[in-house]
Amino acid sequence: MRIGILGTGDVGSRLGTKLVSLGNEVRMGSRTASNPKASRWAKANGLRASAGTFADAAKFGEVVFNCTAGLVSLEALRLAGGENLGGKVLVDVANPLDFSKGMPPTLTVCNTDSLGEQIQRAFPDAKVVKALNTMGNEVMVNPGLVPGEHDTFVCGNDPKAKAKVVEILLAFGWKSPIDLGDMTAARGLEMMLPIWVRLLGTLKTRSFNFKIAK
Ligand SMILES: NC(=O)c1ccc[n+]([C@@H]2O[C@H](COP(=O)([O-])OP(=O)(O)OC[C@H]3O[C@@H](n4cnc5c(N)ncnc54)[C@H](OP(=O)(O)O)[C@@H]3O)[C@@H](O)[C@H]2O)c1
Repeated sequence: MRIGILGTGDVGSRLGTKLVSLGNEVRMGSRTASNPKASRWAKANGLRASAGTFADAAKFGEVVFNCTAGLVSLEALRLAGGENLGGKVLVDVANPLDFSKGMPPTLTVCNTDSLGEQIQRAFPDAKVVKALNTMGNEVMVNPGLVPGEHDTFVCGNDPKAKAKVVEILLAFGWKSPIDLGDMTAARGLEMMLPIWVRLLGTLKTRSFNFKIAK
């Protein structure tokens, strides 16, 4: 598959590298065409990896990942261009965290709305699927880092788009991603972040995850 990664941070490069290793062609996008982190990432990941602007990456991808800071995701996606996202699966990994007052961060949207829903409303032709936002980036692409069974979630309004994302998650090594229904479930998924941040402080490792027992 051709995949667009919007974001040059740890999440973008971690997902990009894994997706290249699985045989996909991946283009990483940023605000500028010559972002040094994106260029380094492309160079390190061989012929199937490339870099460009947010718009280049969105246009390139059959599936596009939003790996931008949640506070500015809508801005980044506007730069990517609605015309480049229409009809495509847009995997939203971002969290609407505001670190401007230090730790712990606050959520800029919650309870009755979510970043996932804001993105779906702003880009109605994109098939937005919220996924992978509830764990550290190391665990996203390597669930085996955390011993035993533990969980990952998806939600979104388009069943086929969710099925495509589940396929990718299975390729990452996840066993049975939990489908939480439509995009309103992104409220809960994003509201898991305050407890994730707290657990990080207490456990002093990023190699942990949520497990749903029933
Ligand atoms: N870190 C994790 O382990 C983890 C885990 C789960 C979820 N997440 C979520 O995943 C997302 C990415 O996290 P990250 O730590 O990899 O990266 P990040 O530092 O949160 O975001 C980096 C990206 O944001 C873009 N950006 C910054 N300011 C911008 C602006 N004003 N307009 C447009 N774009 C702007 C940057 O663009 P340039 O490339 O142009 O600089 C860059 O591509 C976040 O929403 C985070 O909450 C992170």
